[in-house]
Amino acid sequence: MAEPGGTLDTLLIAGARPNFMKIAPLVRAFDEVGLSRRLVHTGQHYDRKMSDTFFEELGIPQPDLNLGVGSGSHVHQIAEVMRGLEAEMTANRPRVVVVVGDVNSTLAAALTANKLGIAVAHVEAGLRSFDRGMPEEINRILTDGIADWLYTTEPDANTNLAREGIAESRIRLVGNVMIDTLFHQLETARAGRPWARLGIEPQNYAVLTLHRPSNVDDPVRLESILRAIHALSLRIPVIFAIHPRTRSRIAQFGFDQRPDLTGFQAVEPLPYREALGLVDSARLVLTDSGGLQEEASVLRVPCLTLRENTERPITLETGANRLVGWDTRVILDAVDETLAGPVRVGQPPQLWDGKAALRIARHLREILP
Ligand code: UD1
Repeated sequence: MAEPGGTLDTLLIAGARPNFMKIAPLVRAFDEVGLSRRLVHTGQHYDRKMSDTFFEELGIPQPDLNLGVGSGSHVHQIAEVMRGLEAEMTANRPRVVVVVGDVNSTLAAALTANKLGIAVAHVEAGLRSFDRGMPEEINRILTDGIADWLYTTEPDANTNLAREGIAESRIRLVGNVMIDTLFHQLETARAGRPWARLGIEPQNYAVLTLHRPSNVDDPVRLESILRAIHALSLRIPVIFAIHPRTRSRIAQFGFDQRPDLTGFQAVEPLPYREALGLVDSARLVLTDSGGLQEEASVLRVPCLTLRENTERPITLETGANRLVGWDTRVILDAVDETLAGPVRVGQPPQLWDGKAALRIARHLREILP
């Protein structure tokens, strides 16, 4: 926390579920090197299962402020975060605003800080899917365009930033803060044996997550994916942790009434440790999430990514990840190969070692006089 009447070093911004795993190690590392901080939750995600449980499990302190922006159009979300943060940054002027990832709250916070003349540090900078149809891709490009300090997870990200004309002196390859959290929680997650509660056996089930608008808002793609999942569920149990958006689309398209599109075991969005423990013991993961591709790669669990691109190409090069898109046949061919192959594959990328947040904190400590 900032000293009363003192100068505030950092303002950390958390907005949506994938941010929370990235914020937790930063808070710890900032405390360790003596950087004062305030933490704002924008409220982009607000359900207990999408937000509060993560703060509790990961030991993130109560936010100093929750803007409560909630759902709504992307314009509404971004505008409300900017209005709320302008007041916050004016009242408690930090030396640097630290944003993570690529959600709408990330861009909104970076833009607000920039407009107020406050430095911006972007954690997980430089990732590019080269698919401008993804809202996150636009958030990434714009956030990096105005960030003063850019912390990257993999060498490809540095190449992308150089191509966009961003000075090398502002970029630091530090590793992956989300993987800091993975290592911090792995032992407890394993001890929890979450698969036992679901009545399944380790290394004999698949974990599925699906929430990208390009997959779940399009009935043709969603049907094609669910058809493959149905076929897979006849071979091994499929645990489907359903995002609220996906649940409502499946009902809206009437897919929950179709025996050829069901068969998976649906569970609510999972708390972090339970999800980690389940993925760690899974035979394979199917996902369109960015973070899960990284987690599976570090755990060396085979991962089929239900997209045509990834902004995390290192997971394809060294990790356990493979792009399969949304075509039923292509997914099932990859499933066949995966189930015939080894249980653990690939290697964790370099610098994904649990110390990324500390590298960032030490760098900020150095540059903030
Ligand atoms: C957001 C991020 C995405 C990230 C994902 C993880 C953007 C552009 N997208 O997408 O990058 O991978 O979070 O979940 O920032 N909802 C609830 N409860 C909640 C939050 C959302 O029910 O706590 C429902 C609402 O109906 C909402 C919908 O989910 O309209 C979508 O939420 P939103 O925050 O707009 O985007 P996500 O799809 O979650």
